[in-house]
Amino acid sequence: MEIDAKKLLEQAAAAAKNAYAPYSGFAVGAALLAESGKVFTGCNVENSSFSPSVCAERTAVVKAVSEGERHFKAIAVVGRQNPCFPCGVCRQVLAEFCDKDFCIYVYDGGEPKLFTLGELLPHAFFIAKTGN
Ligand code: THU
Repeated sequence: MEIDAKKLLEQAAAAAKNAYAPYSGFAVGAALLAESGKVFTGCNVENSSFSPSVCAERTAVVKAVSEGERHFKAIAVVGRQNPCFPCGVCRQVLAEFCDKDFCIYVYDGGEPKLFTLGELLPHAFFIAKTGN
């Protein structure tokens, strides 16, 4: 299956419209393409206590995993300023479910810009799994 990166970026931009970002004013949207072909979108959801705030990418991952999806091909991220790269925490969360060749698309005003997870998070942290 070919990845339609432009469409994925459009879906991310649409998701950013739902961002709840009253503290930073920085809306972010993400669109996560599962191997099944389904797309899970997410936006950032901030909190007055700040630390419970969740990024757009993690919203999308948690939505997908909670719907039974664990295998992913790509994510597109669009922010109030672009290119908007996934933060370090989101890179680590993506590494939990995605291979090094997982595609991360950001928007820089032109064609979708592609990075792999391996490029953005070399030497991710892992420990042995003991369950499912
Ligand atoms: N944010 C994301 O949603 N994704 C990113 O990749 C970077 C940062 C959010 C977190 C916070 O709500 C706002 O952007 C400013 O940091």
